[in-house]
Amino acid sequence: MSFESLELHPAFKGFFTEQNFKKPTEVQRKTIPLLLARKSVVAVSETGSGKTLAYALPLFHALKIDEEKHGTNNLKGTPRAMVLAPTRELANQIYKVMKGVSHHVKLRVRLLTGGDSHERTKSMAHSSFDILIATPSRVKSAIKNKELSLGHLKIFVMDEADNLFEMGFKKDIEGMLLEADLSLLQLGFFTATMPPVFDAFLTERFPGKKLERVAFEAASRPQVRIDTYNVRVEPEEKNKIVRTFLEKEAKGRGIIFTNQKNQADEVFKYLKEKMPALKVKVLHGDMEADERDEALKTFIDKKAQVLVSTDVAARGIDIEDLAWVVNYGLPKSAIYYLHRCGRVGRGGRHGVVYNLVASHDGKMITEINQAIQAQTHLPLQMIPDAKLNQQARDRAKAHAAERVEKKVAKIAQRDRRARITDADVPQRGKKTVRPARRGAGRTVKPVRRK
Ligand SMILES: Nc1ncnc2c1ncn2[C@@H]1O[C@H](COP(=O)(O)OP(=O)(O)OP(=O)(O)O)[C@@H](O)[C@H]1O
Ligand SMILES: [Mg+2]
Repeated sequence: MSFESLELHPAFKGFFTEQNFKKPTEVQRKTIPLLLARKSVVAVSETGSGKTLAYALPLFHALKIDEEKHGTNNLKGTPRAMVLAPTRELANQIYKVMKGVSHHVKLRVRLLTGGDSHERTKSMAHSSFDILIATPSRVKSAIKNKELSLGHLKIFVMDEADNLFEMGFKKDIEGMLLEADLSLLQLGFFTATMPPVFDAFLTERFPGKKLERVAFEAASRPQVRIDTYNVRVEPEEKNKIVRTFLEKEAKGRGIIFTNQKNQADEVFKYLKEKMPALKVKVLHGDMEADERDEALKTFIDKKAQVLVSTDVAARGIDIEDLAWVVNYGLPKSAIYYLHRCGRVGRGGRHGVVYNLVASHDGKMITEINQAIQAQTHLPLQMIPDAKLNQQARDRAKAHAAERVEKKVAKIAQRDRRARITDADVPQRGKKTVRPARRGAGRTVKPVRRK
């Protein structure tokens, strides 16, 4: 199937030529006709399969046709379509994709995310535009402050939909939609993972809506193009292993995922100190909005080789030349495992994932295996033949040998001193001697046998 056969508005032609996209991806082939037919859709397809354009293209098409029929939307602060994303980073990325399309299709796109200046929201209230890309908390406050109205919303898309529900935005989202006419609203829910509990919520929350479900067998599984190495390591060795990895093994650019914000800072500091020549950036939710933007932009612009990040970069982020992902700590859920790993192996490319697995991670490995079951190409066992595994084992062996050597030397020294002091201590009766713990050899405490 070609893009032409989707019968999209002719204005898209320039976009496809510019992007050099030859044909739609599978999720685009399945969902675009449904969305063009004004159906509401729940689409679950693997990471990197092209979901963004799967909703963006029909959204632009519908609004363009609408504009041609009814004229330009001149209402202030009143978008006709809205896309919600869980993080400012992802909202930013979607905004860029949308701007790329709007350059050809000529519709107005705005961005609204947490951490943006209030001036930006205020100015939104005084301008008219067609599409809003946003994070939920900021939409909520903008509606409350009467800077935004969803009264004329026709299309509502949730990207990483399960994550938006999981993050506790269910109520906010329900609140946002109060203003909109649900019977006229077209809905789109997109993700690579849709746990049954959230799917059930959709049916319950939108009872009058017929939701078309598009799911692929390969969704909720890691990409086939990813090689995985599980590196057995004790927690205190992780920094050193990461350093060795970066010095000796890493090819190309990658992300190191940590489970905590302070851990991300620590790893970042360690790398800065031990590898001053390495171009590394850190990203987590405790940073200021502009610091977050700067860190990710530097990385996307290829001005840094490594990004140390929490899960803020785990979902949706699309970086073309990303070669590897390191899970410094295994994520706390199999779903996040999939999303983190899905930053590589996108669009048919090859990627590598390194999991630093501590002894207490056995349970998590089992859970991940269960959650991504049926996949055969990527069993998460402790892979013994990974190069790094070998390095870790060699290092552990060397440490053990060193420890034994030290112990032997200590015992020999103690024995020698004991012998000397034994000889020096006048033997009285049946008294025996043993060196005192500290300063053995200098003072010898006679021990009386009972
Ligand atoms: N038809 C196409 N042909 C070639 N490349 C495409 C096509 N559609 C999208 N892409 C590219 O594929 C990459 C992945 O797309 P996208 O980010 O939309 O994936 P996704 O399914 O949303 O992934 P995730 O689940 O991680 O969010 C992007 O770089 C995009 O430009
Ligand atoms: Mg996406």
